[in-house]
Amino acid sequence: MSVRIAPSILSADFAALGEQIRAAERGGADLIHVDIMDGHFVPNLTIGPPVVRSISKVARVPLDVHLMIEEPDRYLEAFVSAGAAMISVHVEVLPHLHRTIQAIKQLGAKAGVALNPSTPIVALEEIAADVDHVLVMSVNPGFGGQTFIPRSESKIRAVRALLDRQGNAAPIEVDGGIDRTNAARIVEAGATILVAGNSIFGTGDPERATRDLRAAAMLKAGV
Ligand code: DX5
Ligand code: ZN
Repeated sequence: MSVRIAPSILSADFAALGEQIRAAERGGADLIHVDIMDGHFVPNLTIGPPVVRSISKVARVPLDVHLMIEEPDRYLEAFVSAGAAMISVHVEVLPHLHRTIQAIKQLGAKAGVALNPSTPIVALEEIAADVDHVLVMSVNPGFGGQTFIPRSESKIRAVRALLDRQGNAAPIEVDGGIDRTNAARIVEAGATILVAGNSIFGTGDPERATRDLRAAAMLKAGV
């Protein structure tokens, strides 16, 4: 099984972003995860399309853009034209989720649905056949460096079962509190894209941390 590592630049040094991204790529990063926060859906603020555009000029791997914002529909085109290859939107803010997912696909990006820890899986039921990926939040979104919520493991299994029932092989991405101690268990539960911020950019050596996280993820859990 192949696992993709998606370092989240939320914990990177923003004054040295180009070098931080290159280091993660040397370590084998498959994607660069970019967290967009609006101070409304989540308490924190981050960046917008102009910075994503600059990042896309530096990054060699695809940009995985996680929109933690209200009214994401207003910004889809701006983020795709800035270089987003994958976009995740939160089910909690979207009454017309089906329309949003189609809009992302029409813009030429991969469309994913993100679920907060307290959001039940049933919220995916009617859209599961249409998504290109599902992002399971394993912390409450808004900040890097939080602790993985253990219940997320059973949620990943249940999301995998739901996607399989609907004949959709779309990958499950997991975001929040992932490090070398829990990566293998998360993969064993059914995740194939691991987002990691603090455990990669919170270290002094993002290249090595990316490599180490992949090695840990490929170990059989509990061995
Ligand atoms: C949290 C963000 C995450 C965050 C993960 O709201 O969506 O992508 O960067 O960071 P860590 O790995 O530090 O929990
Ligand atoms: Zn994220």
